[in-house]
Amino acid sequence: MAVDLLLGLQWGDEGKGKIVDVLTKNYDIIARFQGGPNAGHTLEFDGIKHVLHTIPSGIFHKGAINIVGNGVVIDPVIFQKELDNLHKFNLDIKSILLISRKAHLILPTHRLLDAASEAAKGKAKIGSTLKGIGPTYMDKTGRNGMRVGDLEFSDWKEKYRNLADKHEAMIGFYDVDIQYDLQELEADFFKAVEKLKELTFIDSEEYLFKAQKEGKKILAEGAQGSLLDIDFGTYPFVTSSNTTAAGACTGLGVAPNQIGEVKGIFKAYTTRVGSGPFPTELFDADGEIMGRVGNEFGATTGRARRCGWLDLVALKYAVQINGVTELMMMKGDVLSGFKKLKVCTAYNYKGETITHFPYNIEPESVTPIYTEMDGWAEDLTKMSTASQLPAALNTYIDFLEKELEVPIKIVSVGPDRKQTIYR
Ligand code: IMP
Repeated sequence: MAVDLLLGLQWGDEGKGKIVDVLTKNYDIIARFQGGPNAGHTLEFDGIKHVLHTIPSGIFHKGAINIVGNGVVIDPVIFQKELDNLHKFNLDIKSILLISRKAHLILPTHRLLDAASEAAKGKAKIGSTLKGIGPTYMDKTGRNGMRVGDLEFSDWKEKYRNLADKHEAMIGFYDVDIQYDLQELEADFFKAVEKLKELTFIDSEEYLFKAQKEGKKILAEGAQGSLLDIDFGTYPFVTSSNTTAAGACTGLGVAPNQIGEVKGIFKAYTTRVGSGPFPTELFDADGEIMGRVGNEFGATTGRARRCGWLDLVALKYAVQINGVTELMMMKGDVLSGFKKLKVCTAYNYKGETITHFPYNIEPESVTPIYTEMDGWAEDLTKMSTASQLPAALNTYIDFLEKELEVPIKIVSVGPDRKQTIYR
């Protein structure tokens, strides 16, 4: 049985949490493969809103097993808070949430290093969520990191101390004033580690291999978005993991020839948090409306998201890099009321018209070229079947499908599970 993937195709915040939650009924296992608590996956049902950071979005579905894969980085303190929020649901966490021994741990000093590094960058800062993601992946590739499996050995505190001391020395190299009380941070960390140790640790690659042999249906849940990929995103304004399809293979130990459907999620417009180039960004009333109606505030940091028209040059690139086989369009409802909609179909790149995503998309090199389309006025949020969708929205969808050469299977018209239209 192949492993299906679900990925964000823009700069994150496409609505992956909602779609994983909606799709979980078709899967036995949901497995997160990269990123960490920089993610904020929002789910809404029965009038309640839940934000998950590290825990896979299948956690609320009876019978589903949720795996935190080796490619994920875990902050035990944030993880514990997430678990505390789940308390009221009476879930049997030990049996439905399994953690890879090979996942790396975010130490308090990783967070401090993130803060020091960002402060030292000044205006060139990445706009990191400051959750310690970059420094943790640096230690992973630098072969210094601490893994979940280390916690099963008696010398883990020694390992911790060596690494934390090294980090403290590194913080000293930055010419910035970072205030912190490490003893207090460590007390919280050690307490949270003890709680983490009560959970179930597994060799997740082996578990998933066996599950596949037994015919179990597996969905790999991505975090962030393709344009934040460490290799293919808008470097250096990216996160520190491979958010694209290949990341599911390295982040779970699934072989490339075992990948089935690649489900790509995008918003009907574009958003971005943090710094970095964004060719279709709007600074006018249209952008303000998208932000307000779409409630575009970061689920992890609360920061206002930058908003702009849909960028098909960037989206085609993401479809290509990931080998997307089906698309899901989110937040179509937010565009209701715009008389005219714009879609970027090419870039003016240093005076030349191009339709591929170039090395550099900084504003001095790239100006978007738009195709204008009619908008729709109807409120979509109460609609539940494809036949109810307004003609102008169907024209918009048909245009995107033709450009992207991939079918749009789901149109989401609101945050609730029920506001999901299948095509
Ligand atoms: P970091 O991964 O926290 O270091 O952040 C690096 C960049 O990725 C910043 O621009 C963040 O705003 C962005 N980023 C990280 N995680 C997410 C996410 O889940 N959604 C949207 N943007 C994110």
